[in-house]
Amino acid sequence: ARTVSRDEDGVLTVGGIPVTRLAEEFGTPAYILDEADFRARAQAWRTAFGDDADVFYAGKAFLSRAVVRWLHEEGLNLDVCSGGELATALSAGMPADRIAFHGNNKSVAEIRRAVEAGVGRIVLDSFQEIVRVAHVAQSLGRRQRVQIRITVGVEAHTHEFIATAHEDQKFGIPLAGGQAAEAVRRALQLDGLEVIGIHSHIGSQIFDMSGFEVAAHRVVGLLKEIRDEHGIELPEIDLGGGLGIAYTSDDDPREPHEIAKALTEIVTRECEGARLATPRISVEPGRAVVGPTAFTVYEVGTIKPLDGLRTYVSVDGGMSDNIRTALYDAEYSVSLVSRSSDAEPMLCRVVGKHCESGDIVVRDAFLPGDLAPGDLIAVPATGAYCRSMASNYNHVLRPPVVAVADGEARVIVRRETEDDLLRLDVG
Ligand code: LLP
Repeated sequence: ARTVSRDEDGVLTVGGIPVTRLAEEFGTPAYILDEADFRARAQAWRTAFGDDADVFYAGKAFLSRAVVRWLHEEGLNLDVCSGGELATALSAGMPADRIAFHGNNKSVAEIRRAVEAGVGRIVLDSFQEIVRVAHVAQSLGRRQRVQIRITVGVEAHTHEFIATAHEDQKFGIPLAGGQAAEAVRRALQLDGLEVIGIHSHIGSQIFDMSGFEVAAHRVVGLLKEIRDEHGIELPEIDLGGGLGIAYTSDDDPREPHEIAKALTEIVTRECEGARLATPRISVEPGRAVVGPTAFTVYEVGTIKPLDGLRTYVSVDGGMSDNIRTALYDAEYSVSLVSRSSDAEPMLCRVVGKHCESGDIVVRDAFLPGDLAPGDLIAVPATGAYCRSMASNYNHVLRPPVVAVADGEARVIVRRETEDDLLRLDVG
């Protein structure tokens, strides 16, 4: 469904619009999002699981009101993890019962807003939160549907996963030491809560499905324990998000239907083994829906060849619009998109305009040797965790998100202005 291609002059076009025209109209840097691609991916995820499972788009990857409307129209649900994400979802008309509320330290005010709004589920992340949510629900005369997030001792990352007894991180309630079973025991006793299931999220940018196998095995083990102790079969299991996308040509992600088939098979098999009815499955892909649908276009400002090393190419953005390279050593690719070139490729490092030497957008890339100031270059796969993690470092203004659909481009998140910055500065 991608509508990105090159015209006869080598100019990148999206939905039929040349990137040169987009840059002229909306300025650079800008995130250019292919709406048709977003909708197609959302739909692929939904149809892959059919009516027997629910797909919750993880809003942390990228959220705006337009995105919420697209998700609503394409039949997806939404996972939010803060009051701000919840407000965005509700203000764009996502029905509250299709929202899941996450987070390891939700404030009482956030919990109250979520319960009042009637969110479909709150994912409980600690013993304190079990009591907090029950208390808020009860004080509002509600019974809140909840899942309990457990940590199963699986750390999954890209092509590897590690299964351990314990997990050394802040999320969820450990399965280890009977803590998760104790959490379920307590939650079941509270009138304000309706415990609908168990949640597990094992990591991000995952290609290897065997981490999910271990996780499902352990979650189903807990469901069995709950059945044996309480005589209750919890009806839902959420396997989280974390499915990988291609950032460079080395990555080879699986299609949603393959992932859906694998996950459904794993859970069904485990449940048969435990003689449990198969629970309703849900998943929370963020990156795998939005990541590939956008690229960032930058204008080249300065070019500095360092003899025997590489050429430093500075662009008009940087770590404020894409922190992932600096933060995770993430890999990206980059190409010249405003013209074609037959010049010999040169080894480059694409860097930003921030006052920090770690301000790197693309660590190693080949760009044409005739690259010049004013050229436009684009970094693909910046739809997830770039705008949503953008900052104002050095008082650099955050770029807009421009959605292209049916040959038309429109701003869905506008560029920040100096007025925006100064409005917050009330000293
Ligand atoms: N569900 C839960 C409970 C999560 O914690 C996350 C991500 C997701 C779903 C969605 O994961 P996804 O499918 O998008 O991988 N900033 C990092 C990623 C942090 C992910 C945090 N949790 C990055 O840029 O790679």
